[in-house]
Amino acid sequence: MKVAVVGATGLVGTKMLQVLDERNFPVTELIPVASAKSIGKEITFKGKQYKIVSAEDAIKQKPDVAIFSAGGSTSLEQAPLFADAGITVIDNSSAWRMDPTKKLVVPEVNADVLTAEDKIIANPNCSTIQMVVALKPLHDRYKIKRVVVSTYQSVTGTGVKAVDQLFNERNGVDGPKVYPYTIDLNVIPQIDVFTENGYTKEEMKMILETKKIMGDDSIAVTATTVRIPVMGGHSESVNIEFAHEYDLSEVREVLANAPGVVVVDDIANLKYPMPLDAHDKDEVFVGRLRRDETQPNTLNCWIVSDNLRKGAATNAVQIAEYLASKNLIGQSVAV
Ligand SMILES: NC(=O)c1ccc[n+]([C@@H]2O[C@H](COP(=O)([O-])OP(=O)(O)OC[C@H]3O[C@@H](n4cnc5c(N)ncnc54)[C@H](OP(=O)(O)O)[C@@H]3O)[C@@H](O)[C@H]2O)c1
Repeated sequence: MKVAVVGATGLVGTKMLQVLDERNFPVTELIPVASAKSIGKEITFKGKQYKIVSAEDAIKQKPDVAIFSAGGSTSLEQAPLFADAGITVIDNSSAWRMDPTKKLVVPEVNADVLTAEDKIIANPNCSTIQMVVALKPLHDRYKIKRVVVSTYQSVTGTGVKAVDQLFNERNGVDGPKVYPYTIDLNVIPQIDVFTENGYTKEEMKMILETKKIMGDDSIAVTATTVRIPVMGGHSESVNIEFAHEYDLSEVREVLANAPGVVVVDDIANLKYPMPLDAHDKDEVFVGRLRRDETQPNTLNCWIVSDNLRKGAATNAVQIAEYLASKNLIGQSVAV
């Protein structure tokens, strides 16, 4: 399969190349795309050198699938050009996620909504992906009424420049800032811009995307999203109220048997999920499972995953794998 990776030089794009390689996605030809400043530079994939090209040149080469991680405005502008040429786009930005004509997909949860007519498919927000992977099996069993989530998000979620800011600050080097404040040795309770209701866009993404992916508008979600000076992945403290009573050991079993989930919950041996352990892994790690003793049918847990992998690259590649396995790539749009 001919695969274009748009944003191939970025944090997600670089991880995308690694994941495509590791998962042995059948790439017969890679077409790396980045901004004008990177055109002509070379990247290595599976031991072969590839030159970065423009989006226009990539379209001319007629890839079967284009995986985008180049920001929302690039996506809004360029994804339709690829789609109009019959190329299936899987997009990591927030540009298309809440568009009612586009599918928002986490394969463990709702891959079955995909059809050959879906030419632009949205990859959800990283903090939402890891949460819904854990919520879905619990929703199926106990029906979730309400979720209260607070996040502890890695600087890798903001891209290359944010990682540079953290290390510049740590090393006492002056440099450009992507956060409004120092991030090293600090905690910033703002991710993305504020919206009219006082929530940030990141918080609203978690609220709205969860309902769309789970296909259930009745799930109430409230979120506080926070940036911390960490690299390996995002962590989330999640309080879940169910409609039905649950048994804690059964919850452990449900999660342990759920696709993509690893339960790390052994407090006697101080075992719980942490970003250092989740780093460069594909799974969603769940632990600190315990009853919320202040109200019935309510569970507390801690969810950690590598935002660049399951939160972005791995989820996108899994979507491509699903499409390929069902022969949904490269077919013309039904008229
Ligand atoms: N980081 C995460 O955890 C995460 C998770 C989920 C989704 N995402 C989304 O993925 C996207 C990229 O994130 P990132 O963290 O990888 O950012 P990043 O490290 O800043 O990389 C941005 C990439 O986009 C390319 N680009 C910029 N403008 C372009 C244009 N006009 N045409 C083609 N390519 C262009 C850049 O190329 P140059 O090198 O040439 O500038 C670079 O390859 C964003 O939409 C982000 O919201 C990120």
